[in-house]
Amino acid sequence: MSQKSHTHAQWSSRVAFLLAAVGSSVGLGNIWKFPYMTGESGGGAFVLVYLICIALIGLPILMSEWMLGRLGQKNPMSTMQQISGRLKRSPAWALVGLAGILGAYLILSFYSVIGGWALAYVKYAVTNTFGGLDNDSVGGLFGGLLESPTALLGWHSVFMIMTVGVVIGGVAGGLERAAKTLMPALGILLLVMVLYAATTPGFAEGASYLLMPDLSKLTGETVLAALGHAFFTLSLGMGIMMAYGSYLSDDVNIGRTAVTVAIMDTVIALMAGLAIFPIVFSNGLDAGAGPGLIFQTLPLAFGQMSGGWFFGILFFVLLVFAAWTSSISLLEPIVEWLEEKSPLSRTGATIAAGLATWALGIATVLSFNLWSGVHPLGVFAMFEGKTIFDLLDYLTSKIMLPLTGLATIIFVGWYMQRDELRTQLNMSSGAFSVWYAISRFITPIGVAAVFIFGLLH
Ligand code: TRP
Repeated sequence: MSQKSHTHAQWSSRVAFLLAAVGSSVGLGNIWKFPYMTGESGGGAFVLVYLICIALIGLPILMSEWMLGRLGQKNPMSTMQQISGRLKRSPAWALVGLAGILGAYLILSFYSVIGGWALAYVKYAVTNTFGGLDNDSVGGLFGGLLESPTALLGWHSVFMIMTVGVVIGGVAGGLERAAKTLMPALGILLLVMVLYAATTPGFAEGASYLLMPDLSKLTGETVLAALGHAFFTLSLGMGIMMAYGSYLSDDVNIGRTAVTVAIMDTVIALMAGLAIFPIVFSNGLDAGAGPGLIFQTLPLAFGQMSGGWFFGILFFVLLVFAAWTSSISLLEPIVEWLEEKSPLSRTGATIAAGLATWALGIATVLSFNLWSGVHPLGVFAMFEGKTIFDLLDYLTSKIMLPLTGLATIIFVGWYMQRDELRTQLNMSSGAFSVWYAISRFITPIGVAAVFIFGLLH
């Protein structure tokens, strides 16, 4: 237990909490990963599976994490320890919280490197580097960035300092303030981008690519990717929403707020797709470019179109804002845990956590250049050719997030008392019964089935 005399911090209002939660969930996942994964998996079929995963798996787990956090009022590990202790369940449930903190650490280490790419691209956009680029030189720009350990390390360091700078300020002074200013700005920027995309000749093609499912393109891998992404984009399975819930007051309606966050997160991902694919198609480019989609394909379009300088800056600033409000949420549970478990102050804990994450990030930086030939688990067929960065991404999104999410929903659905859940969630009895049935059966079976199927595939 903490020796410090402070009472546990709280969000200042429901709206502040909502913005912070949306800030966490809307991130690189929405603007970078979702469009490129959709492109790689052939469009609407992926989107359809992803939407089902959000509704039947993401939403119940989001509500569960907030509820557990609010009941425990501590860092995710102590929260799980305390609630399982009170219910006389195995103390091993604390491992779920611990796995979450570890996962947040792993994710942030590579998230910050990608956030650094976004910063570098803001600089390229401002200095009009995209103007007049052709297919080869745009690839050269991206490749040149990835090949340079010092450039990547520099941008990664700046991004980490930005993250630490906000988290040091605490819940109200740091997390809330950042979300309140950055999220509305992000919404406006994205809307402008979509309106612009709507004027391009490829809009209809882009929109139907995103929204018309071609089910023949579905594979086991696509379904696992959609599941992993549903966790990633809602910030689930890593104790983050549990940590956010621990600052939540009793009068906030968890169900309604969770639906709002899931809808906003999904709408923003779809808007990112609606902004990006029409531009890609209007310029005759390839939607299936993979992780380079927004760093290669889009700049090429910005370089060719009129107003491209302006929209290029807009887009990459938006990307930085999205990444920033998410990275602060990844650092928060680590800091909360360190602060409560060690004698460190908030400032000390934030700096220590930031430094440790920065250090691990160096492995991701090197994955793109000096260590690009290093494939640590390459002897196993499923990890063949995977760099350290690929492994971190795979291990977290496709394994740790689903597994801790599964453990969380089983704990809530099968080990907690129905009455307590009912009081906590404060829903009408009809809505509660539906939620309870989904959470006990559909969600865990869905996660387990997709997980096993995807791994065997
Ligand atoms: N949800 C964020 C995104 O879409 C990333 C993120 C923030 C995250 N916190 C997380 C992912 C916790 C998994 C777990 O970019």
